[in-house]
Amino acid sequence: MREIDVTDRSIYTRTIGIEHDPEAGPRRNIDAKGREIAPDLLALMGDTPLVAMERISKDVPPTLIAKLEMLNPGGSVKDRIGIAMIEAAEAAGVLKPGGTIVEPTSGNTGVGLAIAAARKGYRCQFVVPDKVSQDKISLMRAYGAEVVVCPTAVDPEDPRSYYSVSDRLAAEPNAFKPNQYFNQANPQTHMMSTGPELWRQTNGLIDAFVCGVGTGGTATGIGRYLKGRKPDVQIIGADPEGSLYSGDEIHPYLVEGIGEDFWPETFDPAIVDHWYRVSDRDSFTTARRITREEGILVGGSGGTAVWAALEYARTQPEDATIVVLLPDSGRGYLSKFLDDKWMAEHGMLERTGGRKHVTDVLGSKPEELPALVHVHPNETVAQAIALLQEFGVSQMPVFRDGVHEDAMIGDVLGSIRENALLDAALKDADVMQKPIGEVMQPPLPVAGVNEPLDDVFAGLAAGSPAVVIVDDERPVGVVTRADLLTFLASQQG
Ligand SMILES: Cc1ncc(COP(=O)(O)O)c(C=O)c1O
Repeated sequence: MREIDVTDRSIYTRTIGIEHDPEAGPRRNIDAKGREIAPDLLALMGDTPLVAMERISKDVPPTLIAKLEMLNPGGSVKDRIGIAMIEAAEAAGVLKPGGTIVEPTSGNTGVGLAIAAARKGYRCQFVVPDKVSQDKISLMRAYGAEVVVCPTAVDPEDPRSYYSVSDRLAAEPNAFKPNQYFNQANPQTHMMSTGPELWRQTNGLIDAFVCGVGTGGTATGIGRYLKGRKPDVQIIGADPEGSLYSGDEIHPYLVEGIGEDFWPETFDPAIVDHWYRVSDRDSFTTARRITREEGILVGGSGGTAVWAALEYARTQPEDATIVVLLPDSGRGYLSKFLDDKWMAEHGMLERTGGRKHVTDVLGSKPEELPALVHVHPNETVAQAIALLQEFGVSQMPVFRDGVHEDAMIGDVLGSIRENALLDAALKDADVMQKPIGEVMQPPLPVAGVNEPLDDVFAGLAAGSPAVVIVDDERPVGVVTRADLLTFLASQQG
């Protein structure tokens, strides 16, 4: 291995281009015949545009400006460091022709590395935590990479963690691990390209830069460059709840690519002037708003950064130039936070803010369904299953024998649930002839017909399959999780 100076620009012939000075202007790809043709996709990385986000910024004095890193050819900010880490490794002699690149990644770095490897003829093996969406895993495989999936909720040192597994794979002959969390070519790339671009694009008027922090390469590289040009520029860090960067208790969270449970060597915490800690819900609902109000399809960590930027902008003057970096696109999250069902299942679908009540859901249910499908203790399991199938419901309350629609809440003795009945039937076929009274489960939770929907939400999101709705001590209906999902989805603009 040769000692190299990662700040030596001549190493990065493909990353930033030999003659190109990002502070002077965008890279121009003119071939020998004067035609504007890029030699390959690597020459189109970087130089991402800035765009004003007026609608999102309507409640704060300045207009936020977004840096659209999803417009990089591979779809994320990580395109920039993929080729840079490869060029630095080639210069150091640790990556040779025909070598294998091994990296733990949440997906985006994998794509950036895979594009560069495709051009340079390297094999790729990526190790991801299982919280990463299938969309992203399929994407890396589409670029020809092998993808190894590991459990998310294990300690970094655990042999099953994606850090440890990648270490083992990188120990194989002719394998190289760029190690974005320790590789100084990561922040250096942003010092050489993203920082100078921002300075040029804002005509040196930038007052604050906001971004999420994963490896910290983006914040550190850009922060160092901008502070070198304008010492009082503010670097604002957006951090998910559960990450140690902003000093929170470490716990799992759903936003991908940012936050951490250890301090990477690529991150200089001193560069951040102010942190905002952001919940998964605020990250995802903000990302959905950006897409619906600005038409910019953005990933979850982009929502985190914009939520923080809006909080910061509240305290800033109208003419402040605040740039927020949007690291990747929403395309990698269509089956996640951009899916209403997923959001509701994770208790994050925009609540009704107290505007809707249980009665609204009851009113939205199909009329042909009786309000209160119920059964009695002396009826058999077979009869109960027939009722469930007849009305297409998965659970129902058990009323005292002889009591029907005139039931009072005191007449509700228990409940039966399809999955529990089928379990019992699988264990003991004779159960079909047993009276419900012998197999029923505790009553379903109860909610008032005029109760705000948000209050019922938590109960259903926490696990109960349905709630019995009462009006003045009289059961009047049942609301299931599916009823609530359908109703809430119908409320989304
Ligand atoms: C979606 C997303 N956002 C933000 C980041 C943070 O960038 P950095 O690692 O440079 O701090 C990453 C990094 O992986 C990412 O994938």
